[in-house]
Amino acid sequence: MNAISTNLPFAIEELLPSRGNFTEAVGLPPSVYHNEQIYEFEMEAIFGQEWLCVGRSESLGEVGDFFSRSCGGEQIIVVRTSETEIRAMSAVCQHRGLCVTADIDRDDGDLFGTPVHISGNARQFRCPYHHWVYDIDGQLVGAPEMSQTAGFEKSSISLPKIPTEIWQGFVFVNLSNSPRPLAPSLAKLDAVLENHDLGGLITVDPITIPDVPFNWKIMIENFMEGYHNSRLHSGIHDFAPSSGIWYSPYEQSDGGMYGLNRTLETGGGFNPTNRALFPFLPNTTEAERQQVIFALLPPSLLIGVQSDSAFWFTVDPTGPKTHSLSMAYLFPEETTKLPLFDKLLESAIQGVSYFNAQDMPTNVGVQQGMESRFAPRGNYSWQEAVIPQFNSWLVERYSRAIRDLESGDRVGL
Ligand SMILES: [Fe+2]
Repeated sequence: MNAISTNLPFAIEELLPSRGNFTEAVGLPPSVYHNEQIYEFEMEAIFGQEWLCVGRSESLGEVGDFFSRSCGGEQIIVVRTSETEIRAMSAVCQHRGLCVTADIDRDDGDLFGTPVHISGNARQFRCPYHHWVYDIDGQLVGAPEMSQTAGFEKSSISLPKIPTEIWQGFVFVNLSNSPRPLAPSLAKLDAVLENHDLGGLITVDPITIPDVPFNWKIMIENFMEGYHNSRLHSGIHDFAPSSGIWYSPYEQSDGGMYGLNRTLETGGGFNPTNRALFPFLPNTTEAERQQVIFALLPPSLLIGVQSDSAFWFTVDPTGPKTHSLSMAYLFPEETTKLPLFDKLLESAIQGVSYFNAQDMPTNVGVQQGMESRFAPRGNYSWQEAVIPQFNSWLVERYSRAIRDLESGDRVGL
């Protein structure tokens, strides 16, 4: 039985009805939203295998610019090592295991809290524990009092490198040994986003909310499905009604999925005015200014594109019922130089806060519902056709991991 060999609380066959078209598909088994074994399985089968978004390349403009990040259960550093290279590597010191980016000088009185993460510009990374020093390429260049240690060679020690890819300005890392390249799987998204030039936009007002109290998949489903927009968000979402949603067909080779939501007029916006607050993205067509794009690059990146800007979220599971959620806006640099940009941004943030005030308690409630003995495996509307697409993506990877496990190609699940 698959369920026994993988410690999963169900056989893989139970997932299969959640794949395919919305007309037939039903929800995933509710335990995938709260079960500890499934969380551990996903951290290996999904987050240990797939490309994970960790941030934006334009935030690393100068050689030595870096940020540290938790991702897929690992602590990593992303650093610009040269004008042409951004590199990711493990932050775990190869001496005793403290993260070289750990900021231990905390003054919040939390003795046992996880060391916080940092960003900045570095010439080297020094572990605060025993002062082992690595250059920005990750090579060990300093290790005090190690000369009497037999066979110790600094040159043979470095922070483990992690495969990195940049797509449309988003930095992705992959924790598996030999990942397939990401970009070829995103050709359809490249086509639909061609005029928006996301790679040329800059990140504004990034925030991270640790331990959001619901499963990472609930966040993805809520972001991507348009069924609730004219219901839960009645009023503020009326400029882009649920009836105007269309989801691109999904094929197994696709590394992402997306939907277009037509707006009633050109230049709608997610804010109290329902209108774009900033100049349109420069190269977009009239038709593109009358739609909102919602894109998912599973398992971690969500992108929303409106007529004047874009916004993105990343999810990083921290437990079966929690995840870390990061969010930021993307604007053309010229827009950020507008005299009243900060004031307009405040209005945009207010708009998002209004959505969040409706979505977040809803997601917390769905989490509770999925833990109920009466939790459903419900049917889907055409206005949420993207959810069974995501289910298909997910079940394919669950199945692949179980196949590999049973054939001995992968161990340790
Ligand atoms: Fe919503």
